[in-house]
Amino acid sequence: MPPFSVTTPIYYVNDVPHIGHAYTTIAADVLVRWRRLWGDEVFFLTGTDEHGLKMAQAAEAQGLTPKDWADRTSERFREAWKELRISNDDFIRTTEPRHHRAVQEMLQKVYDNGDIELGTYEGLYCVACEAYYTEDELVDGNCPIHGRPVQRMREENYFFKLSRYGDRLLEYYEAHPEAVQPETRRNEVLGFIRQGLQDFSISRTSISWGIPIPWDPNHVAYVWFDALINYCTALGYGSERERFEHWWPVDYHLVGKDILRFHAVYWPAMLMAAGEAPPKHVFAHGWLLVGGEKMSKTRLNQIAPGDLVATFGSDGVRYHFLRDQNFGPDGDFSYEAMVARYNADLANNFGNLASRVLNMAVNYLGGLSPEARENGPLRQQSAAALDGLSAGMAKLDFAGGFGAVWDLIRAANAYIEDRAPWALQKAGDAEAVAAVLGDCLETLRIVALLAFPLIPDAASELWRRLGLPGTPEDQRLPEAAAWGSMPAGAALERGPSLFPRLEG
Ligand code: MSP
Repeated sequence: MPPFSVTTPIYYVNDVPHIGHAYTTIAADVLVRWRRLWGDEVFFLTGTDEHGLKMAQAAEAQGLTPKDWADRTSERFREAWKELRISNDDFIRTTEPRHHRAVQEMLQKVYDNGDIELGTYEGLYCVACEAYYTEDELVDGNCPIHGRPVQRMREENYFFKLSRYGDRLLEYYEAHPEAVQPETRRNEVLGFIRQGLQDFSISRTSISWGIPIPWDPNHVAYVWFDALINYCTALGYGSERERFEHWWPVDYHLVGKDILRFHAVYWPAMLMAAGEAPPKHVFAHGWLLVGGEKMSKTRLNQIAPGDLVATFGSDGVRYHFLRDQNFGPDGDFSYEAMVARYNADLANNFGNLASRVLNMAVNYLGGLSPEARENGPLRQQSAAALDGLSAGMAKLDFAGGFGAVWDLIRAANAYIEDRAPWALQKAGDAEAVAAVLGDCLETLRIVALLAFPLIPDAASELWRRLGLPGTPEDQRLPEAAAWGSMPAGAALERGPSLFPRLEG
C-alpha cells in the first residue's frame, strides 16, 4: 500500500469557519477518499493555527486568554468538519506539546546548520497576514490582500537565510516541474524566486504568545515558521523518526493562492535547511468569491458552512463547491446557482435515476436484482466514467473528473427513456425488462462507488438500497468498478428521495 498524504492549511482561530475554509478542506477530503478506494494508506491532516499577534488580539477583544479563545474556536472547526463528513486522520493544534517539540527541534537544526542569524528588522507589517511587505507591494498604501493599513515595526529578529536558497529552489523546481500546480502558480513562484530572495525574520520579541526559540527564549517563533512545521509534527517529526520517514515528504499540500509563497518558497527552503525533502506537490487553488469579493471578517460577507448544510445537506455542499467552479481559478459563489445546480444534478439526474430504477425493480422484478448482462449498452459508458474520473483526479480537476460520472448518470437516464421498461412490462416482455433494469442497477452500483468520494452519505445509502454488502468505502478500485459485479438476487429497497427538490 503506497502511503499518500494530504494536508489543508491549518486555519487561524481568530475567525470562525466559513465556506472558504470548507472549500479547501472538502477538496482534500474528496482526494483522500478517492485514494483510499485505490487501497492507498492515507494520512489526511487538517487543524488550527493558534499562535501570533492576530490571535492574541482577537482573544483580548473577547476578554479571554489566547488559550481559552483558541480552545473555543478550534472546536468550531472540528464541528464544521464533522458536519461536512471530513475524514481527516488527525487534527493538529499548534498549541499542543508535540508541536512545541517539533518546532524547537527544527529551528535548532536550521540554527545549527548556520542558516539562522540575528539581525534587525524594520518594515511594514500587516497583522492580518502576519507578514511584512515592501512599499512596492502595497496597494494604495494598504495590505494587498486585506486592503487594511499596515504598521511600521522595528524588531531585533532572527533571520532565516532564504537568500542562500534561490538557486537550490530553482534547481529543485526545474527537476520537479509538477511540484507546484497549476502551471500558472508554478510560473508565479519561479518569477518570485528569480527576482532574488530576501532573508526573512523567523522570530518576534514583541509578543509572547508563541513557541520560544530554544537557544534564546526571549524570542518566540514567528507564526508562519511555527505554522508550517505542523505538517511535520503530525507525521512524527521530533518524536517518532521512523513514522516521519514513512510519510515524509507529503504528497499534496492544498492551499489557497493567498498562501502560495509561504508553501512553495519559504517552506521548501526551510526544509532543505533542516535536511528534509520538500513536499511533492503544492497545489494552490483560487478563491471562492462572494459578490466578486474574497470573504473576510472585515467585509462581513462570510457564509458559515453549517447554514448551507441545513438547506443542501453535507453532500449538497460538497458537491456544489467541487463541481461549480474549477479547482484552480477564482469562482463566484451564489445561492441561486447553488439551488439550480442542486436541482439539476442531484435531485434530477442522480436522485431521479436512483428512484426510478429502484421503483421499477421493486414493482416489476419483485425487488430482487436480476442476473447481470455481460455486455449491457452502458458498459462502455461506465468504463469511460472510471477513466474520466481517474484522469480528472490525477490533476485535481474535480469538476472534470466527476463530470464523467454525471455523464454516465445522464446516459443511464437516456437509456431508460429509450428502452421504456414500463412499456416492455406492459407488453409482457419480462426478459427485456430484467435486461434493461439489470443494466441500470449495475450502473447505479458503479455510480454509487464512483460518486462516493464526493457525496459519501447519498452514495452509501444508495449502496445499501441496492442490497450490496458493506459500504462503497470497503471496495477496491479498479476491480470494483468492473461491469458485471452486481450480484443476482440482491434485495432492493426503494426509499425517500435521496436529494429532495428545492424550491428556488
Ligand atoms: N493559518 C494560515 C495558514 C497556515 S498553513 C501552515 C492561514 N489561515 S487562514 O485561516 O487564513 O486560512 C487560509 C486558507 O483558507 C486559504 O489558503 C484557503 O485554503 C482557505 N480560504 C480562506 N478563504 C478562502 C476563500 N475565500 N476562498 C477559497 N479558499 C479560502 O492562512
